[in-house]
Amino acid sequence: MKLLILNGPNLNMLGLREPSIYGAETYAALCEKIRAHAKARGIAVDLYQSNHEGDLVDRIQAAYGDADGIVINPGAYTHTSIALLDAVKSVSIPTVEVHISDVTQREEFRQISYIRLACVKTIMGHGTDGYLEAIDYLIETLA
Ligand code: DQA
Repeated sequence: MKLLILNGPNLNMLGLREPSIYGAETYAALCEKIRAHAKARGIAVDLYQSNHEGDLVDRIQAAYGDADGIVINPGAYTHTSIALLDAVKSVSIPTVEVHISDVTQREEFRQISYIRLACVKTIMGHGTDGYLEAIDYLIETLA
């Protein structure tokens, strides 16, 4: 089984970025944690981060025929991007939406998620452990 782990804009700034909301763990440390978890669970993972919407669309399209599932934290594109929603719908790959923070407890503009309409599950407010929960969920449901 292979999963694509996608992160959108500003998630490369983890550790520096608003640590009271997103924690002190860096993006590099998050990647290590995901790789170690995937290894322990016996699956392959591809990790990709971009600050650019079109790059994320390209990566989702490239997953067609390659990845069995997608874990995506689209960052702020969650709340704006119909293109990412359409990309996930286009490839029909089971996708889990992850947010480090609990967006339901934040600003009004974070209450919309376009990508959620194409996702099999949403995990939010569990910090970076949410990525591991998303991986476990996909392993269980795809098995
Ligand atoms: C986020 C929440 C988004 O609203 C925000 O724009 C992010 C990170 C999260 O992981 O909690 O960039 O997706």
